Amino acid sequence: MTGATGTIGRHIVSSLDEAGRRVRALVRDPAGAALPEGVEVVRGDLSSPGTLEAALRDVESVYLMWPGIAVDPRVVEVIARHAERVVYLSTDVADLADGEPATSYHQEIERLIRKSGLSWTFLRAIDFATNTLGWADQVRQGVVRWPYGQASRSLIHERDIADVAVRVLTSPGHDGARYVITGPESITHAEQVRIIGEAVGRQVRWEDLPVEVARRQLTAAWGNAAFVDARLRAWGSFVESPERVTDTVERVLGKPARTFRSWTEEHADDFR
Ligand SMILES: NC(=O)c1ccc[n+]([C@@H]2O[C@H](COP(=O)([O-])OP(=O)(O)OC[C@H]3O[C@@H](n4cnc5c(N)ncnc54)[C@H](OP(=O)(O)O)[C@@H]3O)[C@@H](O)[C@H]2O)c1
Repeated sequence: MTGATGTIGRHIVSSLDEAGRRVRALVRDPAGAALPEGVEVVRGDLSSPGTLEAALRDVESVYLMWPGIAVDPRVVEVIARHAERVVYLSTDVADLADGEPATSYHQEIERLIRKSGLSWTFLRAIDFATNTLGWADQVRQGVVRWPYGQASRSLIHERDIADVAVRVLTSPGHDGARYVITGPESITHAEQVRIIGEAVGRQVRWEDLPVEVARRQLTAAWGNAAFVDARLRAWGSFVESPERVTDTVERVLGKPARTFRSWTEEHADDFR
């Protein structure tokens, strides 16, 4: 599997390992990976497809995440030569018609996978609750300044994505599924900050940051103006129309998705 040291992948690795499944993790730095003992760790890099062959030997299923580097079709080709199935961590993207240009690396990779001959499942995750850790410094100072306080988001707990991935990797019936994975409810930015404050045990105030100020700050911090524009547009749209909520987690796992409140309680120390 790829991304084994990442936010989602770490949970997938531990769950598969605890369930006694054989796992091989592809990482760039085996010495620093700190994965469970039973997990085979192999060095490889998605930006260098030649390094993937060894990791793919005798592999049935691949969990693929893409780290935002330039898309290289040879990665999907090499996976298709070795494995039967790929479970791809995507985002809430639209399906592309034939010939329609991709506007994100997730769309490009989904298209490559669909044409590859592999069996596939796409995990189209809504934004992770872990993104709110970006507010941690502001939470410590008692006020979060961010745009669109009334934007309602259905953030997803990282463990729910991992649990769905594990279920898909280890049980039949998911081929060709495009699972849109969301939290169980849609909560405004301002409300999220209030809930974080309650978990941490302090009052945290919300202050709406003017959109143009946010655009400048986020472009400086993230370095990708097009990405910032797309995020701001999406957040703005969630003021009028709350982000959608799906029952994917419940359908796949037989239990409801974890709440944002439970996520904040687990992560309270990260905001202290
Ligand atoms: N954050 C969100 O709200 C959100 C929402 C939907 C989808 N997503 C998608 O989720 C994915 C990120 O997943 P994540 O959060 O679990 O990961 P993450 O915590 O961002 O960790 C990055 C992972 O990528 C691996 N990696 C980085 N460069 C690599 C390379 N050149 N070759 C091989 N591995 C490389 C790292 O492995 P090593 O360092 O061990 O090599 C690490 O395991 C992205 O595709 C993102 O678009 C994110």
